Amino acid sequence: MTSLFEKTGINGLVLKNRFIRSATWEGLAADDGGPTSKIVELYTRLAEGEAGLIITGHTYVHPQGKHAPRQLGMDQEGLIPGYRTLTQAVHEKGGKILSQISYGGAYLSKSRVERMTHRDLQEVAQAFGNAALRAKTAGFDGVQILAAHGFFLSQLLCPRYNSRTDAYGGPIENRARLLLEALSSIRKQVGRSYPVMVKLNGQDLVENGLTLEDSLKVGAMLEEQGIDAVEVSGGLLNVAGLMDKKTDLVEDTCAFRKEAEVFKKTLRVPIILVGGIRSFQLAQKLIEEGVADYISMCRPFICEPGLIKRWKADDSRKADCISCNQCVEQIKQGLGLQCVPLEPEPAATFFPEHLERIPAGPPHLPGTIYQIATGLEQWESGFYPVLKIQVVRDEKIIASGTSIPLNSDDPDNLLRAITTLLEKHRQR
Ligand SMILES: Cc1cc2nc3c(=O)[nH]c(=O)nc-3n(C[C@H](O)[C@H](O)[C@H](O)COP(=O)(O)O)c2cc1C
Ligand code: SF4
Repeated sequence: MTSLFEKTGINGLVLKNRFIRSATWEGLAADDGGPTSKIVELYTRLAEGEAGLIITGHTYVHPQGKHAPRQLGMDQEGLIPGYRTLTQAVHEKGGKILSQISYGGAYLSKSRVERMTHRDLQEVAQAFGNAALRAKTAGFDGVQILAAHGFFLSQLLCPRYNSRTDAYGGPIENRARLLLEALSSIRKQVGRSYPVMVKLNGQDLVENGLTLEDSLKVGAMLEEQGIDAVEVSGGLLNVAGLMDKKTDLVEDTCAFRKEAEVFKKTLRVPIILVGGIRSFQLAQKLIEEGVADYISMCRPFICEPGLIKRWKADDSRKADCISCNQCVEQIKQGLGLQCVPLEPEPAATFFPEHLERIPAGPPHLPGTIYQIATGLEQWESGFYPVLKIQVVRDEKIIASGTSIPLNSDDPDNLLRAITTLLEKHRQR
């Protein structure tokens, strides 16, 4: 029976288990795109934590393809020594690491995609090949092409954001042309025996986006041209679904199971599934049921770089990550990749029975309501009837006042005190 902790191989790359750390933008690179000591530390911890394969954050292959601040780059020879330090550190801890190479600069700017000449596109394909060779020279165990989530290669696959009418637009064979040219350029430079994988949207999940049917055709073309594995993802960066906050919180499910299943049935190369997987049990089920060959996760590893070591040691409690996406905000604020989870909302302790709602005037925002309620409040030793005033906006309680015990003189005393104060105010 297929096991999560068995040794497997992808084009000669031996992996000690079937868990993959999906590519994660670190927001920690140096100004020239080189890895900093913080990045080396981050990947060393992941290797110590026994992720079978680590994929770096998206790494631009060409200066014009830089997408985000403090993003890794693989666009110059001068970066190779820094990456060598990184790959050596990971290898010393028994880890394996791929560089995720990408071109993100034209992301969703339709006019720029339309303006790019064939020469520009050839330069991009060539840049992928050059970057892959640099990654190989620097000791990476392989590369992964980013063709998901709306980045340039994925954008070309998506009819909604690719309105070209030449050999790179229209039918799927044309929309996939640059991706295939990038793969061909990579193969020319690194040879057939170097692991080259792709992250691909099973579907874009937007109107007029890449469909599952077309994505499968892309998968088949890539396989034909020598891709070694396909990581199935979905959704675009500017729409919900890609990193759904609700994923897996209620049910133990994952986001792109259906897409992975179809890929697995159609292609021969290993299929990697990413998106919302949080429990060991679900990972095991997906592997045993043949939905995918590898389980890929991103946010759980931000929270717990040692997750796989923990699961391997028979502590199979679910990952701590609550999918709140606050880690993304940390990077956007320039603080680098870190888990700073949102405080979960405290459980309700007040259970209203009778409500009066009256509109609140300025300076409260329009639509604000005072909610005066009587009901039961939970205190340590039990439930007590209380009166409570709360402020509500958009059906959410945004402020909650002190509870006034009902079976006492307090409400009457309070009412008297308020009346006296208002009287004094009026007489001013
Ligand atoms: C902070 C952060 C950074 C990410 N950076 C990348 C990236 O560089 N490349 C990529 O392909 N996906 C990136 N993703 C998407 C993840 O790899 C993954 O597809 C997505 O988070 C769903 O997996 P999860 O539910 O296990 O987090 C990022 C996600 C997060 C939260
Ligand atoms: S910040 Fe939230 S989503 Fe990000 S790793 Fe931590 S718990 Fe998970």
